[in-house]
Amino acid sequence: MERLALDDIRARITKDGIRIYEDADFAGMRLAGRVAAEILDAVAHLVVPGATTAVIDDFITAEIARRGVTSATVGYKGYKHASCISVNHVVCHGIPGPKVLVDGDILNVDVTVIVDGWYGDTSRMYVAGQLARKAERLIEVTHEGLMRGIAAVKPGNTFGDIGHAIQAYVEAQRMSVVRDFCGHGLGRVFHAPPNVLHYGRAGSGPVLEEGMFFTIEPMVNLGRPETKVLADDWTAVTRDKSLSAQFEHSVGVTATGCEIFTLSPAGKFHPTWG
Ligand code: MF3
Ligand code: CO
Ligand code: CO
Repeated sequence: MERLALDDIRARITKDGIRIYEDADFAGMRLAGRVAAEILDAVAHLVVPGATTAVIDDFITAEIARRGVTSATVGYKGYKHASCISVNHVVCHGIPGPKVLVDGDILNVDVTVIVDGWYGDTSRMYVAGQLARKAERLIEVTHEGLMRGIAAVKPGNTFGDIGHAIQAYVEAQRMSVVRDFCGHGLGRVFHAPPNVLHYGRAGSGPVLEEGMFFTIEPMVNLGRPETKVLADDWTAVTRDKSLSAQFEHSVGVTATGCEIFTLSPAGKFHPTWG
């Protein structure tokens, strides 16, 4: 059963347009987040040299169907796939297709599911075959950047504190944070205010309040931060063709900090961690 739409109408919205969810709503996000994370856990064994990104997306489509949940991306702005798969210098929004993975390719797989009306949005990095040292560093730094952003999530901090924590760490590692894409509020909808920037000034932006649900999904480049969108009007790549990585979690602000809804149930985070 879906919850009454009346709850949505009565919900409190801050002056920045950010919805404040109720305690009971965390359960909905917890389940949606877990389903999305379980699907990412299950993808790992398919990421091998010789596989196509279409095969990975087909598997995700089947997993979503098998669990009786819904893909948030199929039909979203005309998109036709259950995942975005972004290989090497693709920053985000890579379209699954006949591209064959080769040894050493790194890729982000991004899945969003709807479970009982709640959205779970998460992405991780994978490697086909042998992970090169530079790519491994990029993946480690991107994941650590996300976790540092998450560590800044608590009532009274601001969205700028999140962005600042990510940017300060990533740039200290001599890598760059993509400015052209950001995280977003979510919950009963896929994309809602605010824009969650992965860079910024400490203390700037809206103040975090208990009950806010949003994603943090930093994209980090080995080279310069600039991106461009390909002729397909969808795929975003690094302008300088440098490698790019991304991790995404959906989180909720609690009284004392935050709950990560999309942690891997299998304890997998990225290739080097199992
Ligand atoms: N999951 C992506 C995000 O993190 C959005 C993908 S939209 C799609 O917000 F249509 F490209 F799939
Ligand atoms: Co997202
Ligand atoms: Co996503």
